[in-house]
Amino acid sequence: MSSSISVTVIGTGYVGLVQAICFAEMGHRVCCLDIDEQKIARLNRGEVTIYEPGLEELIRKNTAARHLSFTTDASEAIDSSRHILIAVGTPSEEDGSADLQHVLKVAQTIAEHMSESKLVYVKSTVPVGTNAKVSNTIHQRLVELDKQHLEFSVISNPEFLKEGAAVQDCMRPDRIIIGCEDTAVFDEIRHLYMPFNRNHDKVMFMDCVSAELTKYAANCMLATKISFMNEMSQIAERVGADIEQVRLGIGADPRIGYHFIYPGCGYGGSCFPKDVKALIHSSREVDFEPQVLASVEAVNQLQKTHLLESVDSHFKGDIKGRTFALWGLAFKPNTDDMREAPSLQIIKGLLDGGARVLAYDPKAADNCRAILGENSAITYCDHKEDALDGADALIVCTEWNEFKAADMNSLSQLKQAIPVFDGRNIFDPDYMRYQGIAYYGIGRGLSV
Ligand code: UGA
Repeated sequence: MSSSISVTVIGTGYVGLVQAICFAEMGHRVCCLDIDEQKIARLNRGEVTIYEPGLEELIRKNTAARHLSFTTDASEAIDSSRHILIAVGTPSEEDGSADLQHVLKVAQTIAEHMSESKLVYVKSTVPVGTNAKVSNTIHQRLVELDKQHLEFSVISNPEFLKEGAAVQDCMRPDRIIIGCEDTAVFDEIRHLYMPFNRNHDKVMFMDCVSAELTKYAANCMLATKISFMNEMSQIAERVGADIEQVRLGIGADPRIGYHFIYPGCGYGGSCFPKDVKALIHSSREVDFEPQVLASVEAVNQLQKTHLLESVDSHFKGDIKGRTFALWGLAFKPNTDDMREAPSLQIIKGLLDGGARVLAYDPKAADNCRAILGENSAITYCDHKEDALDGADALIVCTEWNEFKAADMNSLSQLKQAIPVFDGRNIFDPDYMRYQGIAYYGIGRGLSV
């Protein structure tokens, strides 16, 4: 049994909010701190600022149970807990490096408001060496404030949440990585995470630098699997193989496995593109040229425009004045996140060619509009069927469940068959052929 602990989470973005809610759900008392007053006011009203299945319900439940509170008052938030998590953003700089200004600013704030010793966990995804910088920043500020007698430990504690399944991933983690050299605080850390151990201890202790690299190595490994499969899909198309058969064939080998080997129109999101670039940047800083990572990134860029090439070749370079239905805008299903979404490049290519787009996404239309601005050549539809109305072709960029059976419903009811460009291989080429639909998947050639 573990007893309730007070925890402060700084930053109510994706990672901070999910982790805070999961701590609260496990019975810890959690205070969330953010400088954004509007966001905190909305959270205090039980309104969720991001779309993530299960989140809103858990916020309301835990706020009502007084396990969870939101504030902009740094002094109150930092004073109230010994365990402080930093979960603020680390956006990419132009050169691919991570911008650490928010993390280091928070480190200063912690030093300014602490009046007793603290355990500071760095949850934000930060390059190798950042925990040492956080430690130095806190130390320096404490010296300036004549509070150097206060003790603190900085702990690297990366997150491994997937958008769309974040609550579940956080509640049932595969592992909890703890980078910490201060063995005296191990028991306290174990205690904090004890509620997340289901069948066995999930906490893995290691040194700080190894924990920092573990986060990047995990995301880069996953991105590598995807780019590898996307490269295979290009080869498959040219030699006349079906990548989906190949995927099943190789996945059966337990050394390879079935996870994360789905070819598609490229990986997006806030993590893979940013983290691959950041690790390339960090490697170059230590005079190492990472060849695999550079290729992973390059293959992904090519893959994001691959569907456009199929469209171009089908219409023999003439898409001017044509209308394209686009199903799926988000970078993956079950999220409204548009960051680095392949759909953005597809839309841009279509508009550049003089085409019109009828777009449908169950969640991400508003975010897409916010990125692209109002444009008379794009119409955001309320239903997937509306997007097909008058379309010359259908392009699928995200594998939302509601699209999967659509070949049998919406498409077969169209007056006239239109070509389908399936960026997620969700349709059955044989069925498409049977319906007389020209079907272009990824790595499957053309079925007519
Ligand atoms: C990713 C990792 O999966 C998480 O473990 C990690 O914690 C997170 O980044 C992070 O660093 O915060 P996420 O970006 O939410 O999570 O999304 P994924 O489900 O990993 O998908 C990323 C992209 O890869 C999507 O565009 C998806 O469509 C694509 N993908 C994924 C493929 O093209 N093929 C696959 O087989 C799997």
